[in-house]
Amino acid sequence: MQVRTIQYDTSEYRQELELRNRLLRVPLGLDIYAEDLPAEREQLHYGLFDGELLVGCAIAILKSDQHAKIRQMAVDTGLQAQGLGRQLLTAAEDDLRQRGIQWLELAARIEAVGFYEKLGYQTVGDEFVEVGIPHRHMEKAL
Ligand SMILES: CC(C)(COP(=O)(O)OP(=O)(O)OC[C@H]1O[C@@H](n2cnc3c(N)ncnc32)[C@H](O)[C@@H]1OP(=O)(O)O)[C@@H](O)C(=O)NCCC(=O)NCCS
Repeated sequence: MQVRTIQYDTSEYRQELELRNRLLRVPLGLDIYAEDLPAEREQLHYGLFDGELLVGCAIAILKSDQHAKIRQMAVDTGLQAQGLGRQLLTAAEDDLRQRGIQWLELAARIEAVGFYEKLGYQTVGDEFVEVGIPHRHMEKAL
């Protein structure tokens, strides 16, 4: 398994959209293709690949020179709980650190909070609802 960046509007990006829709949107009755995808041109896309097949993804929005927000983290069904999420997020963090990013934030689905805690993130503030389900804000200093 290899982590590499994905360029916007490529066949790899289209694989990313399919994975995100299948794992993060369709189960909630939502459609990724109805979202503001052109805004994603400016965001950093990380893919976890098994050869040419995308099996995991994460996106970083650069909020300032030192601060980024992680979103849309997912590992394909059947490959979860094997350390791949850790591999993917650690590689994304390493890349962001090299770009000068010093702290990260994200909105974690409640059932994923334990995963991010294992990776060193801390919850901040109260539970809130996003895409119709409960989340917590989390942060990490790089
Ligand atoms: C959440 C997700 C990205 C984690 O990826 P993963 O490959 O399954 O996680 P890993 O196997 O790398 O787990 C790393 C560590 O976190 C733990 N962990 C993983 N998922 C967890 C969870 N939901 N709750 C608590 N701990 C969890 C693992 O036990 C492991 O701990 P260890 O190192 O002590 O053994 C993945 O399960 C997923 O895509 N889920 C569905 C989509 C989703 O909810 N995305 C998050 C949106 S905020």
